[in-house]
Amino acid sequence: MTQSKKYAVFGNPIKHSKSPLIHAAFAAQCDRQLQYRAVRVERNGFAEAAQNFFAGGGAGLNVTVPFKREAFELAEQLSDRAKRAGAANTLSPLPGGGFIGDNTDGIGLVSDMVANLGWVLRDLRVLVLGAGGAVRGILEPILRESPCELLVVNRTAERAAQLAAEFSDLGTIEGGAYSLIGSRQFDLIINGTSAGLTGDMPDLPSSLLTDHSCCYDMVYGAEPTVFMRWAALHAAWAVADGLGMLVEQAAQSFYLWNKVRPETRPVINQLRTVLAAA
Ligand code: ATR
Repeated sequence: MTQSKKYAVFGNPIKHSKSPLIHAAFAAQCDRQLQYRAVRVERNGFAEAAQNFFAGGGAGLNVTVPFKREAFELAEQLSDRAKRAGAANTLSPLPGGGFIGDNTDGIGLVSDMVANLGWVLRDLRVLVLGAGGAVRGILEPILRESPCELLVVNRTAERAAQLAAEFSDLGTIEGGAYSLIGSRQFDLIINGTSAGLTGDMPDLPSSLLTDHSCCYDMVYGAEPTVFMRWAALHAAWAVADGLGMLVEQAAQSFYLWNKVRPETRPVINQLRTVLAAA
């Protein structure tokens, strides 16, 4: 009998991670034997834990908050998209030792919007709220969908301006303070801030949405987020949370490791049921 391969996600906190459930569902679907554990790693212990994991035969490692930057810095090699994102969420062992870092978050978001929600980004006016690590990870795949405008706004305006400068070779992008929104309207608004985690909401003009605007929150929960409630109140045409992004980024990692693409929709549905029952 072949031994099942070892995978894990490292983070802190990690208790509520859905990744073991997602990867177990993918493995069952694709008839693969694997173990996938969620491991809480001490804040100063990531490097050692990752090196031990691979030295002990680990076949693949996901990395979540707060270690994505450290994973990026530690990796011997990086994919182009990890270089752009400045962070790694998927690590794979290299034949000679060490590991290669990739980033599947951005492609996970775009896959969810395009394949699951049917939102075509080409020629849309896109607004992104926030300019932290989460936003940096999604800009390249968004720009590759060819929106006609991409505005990134942030409480600390310079961070958004800096991102816009860094990604300007990939398409039309501007960045700065929330005041740049003015009376402009957008077809797609993506919330990449962590404001909702403390029940806050960036201050947005009520004129922002048209009757066909879509709103996407990169976080998810059992209940609609503050941003999703704001979007519904302002009659957004469609509103979604980041549960699909979570499953899609996991599917991309699973593909990198197993060279097979799992079906995501049944797993998104399964997770939605789990969340509702929690
Ligand atoms: P992450 O890796 O999740 O992106 P981060 O790098 O700490 O985390 O970024 C958090 C983002 O949420 C930032 O854009 C932050 O704005 P600042 O750069 O000005 O700090 C944004 N954010 C957090 N709380 C916010 C709030 N109450 N209102 C508006 N933006 C907020």
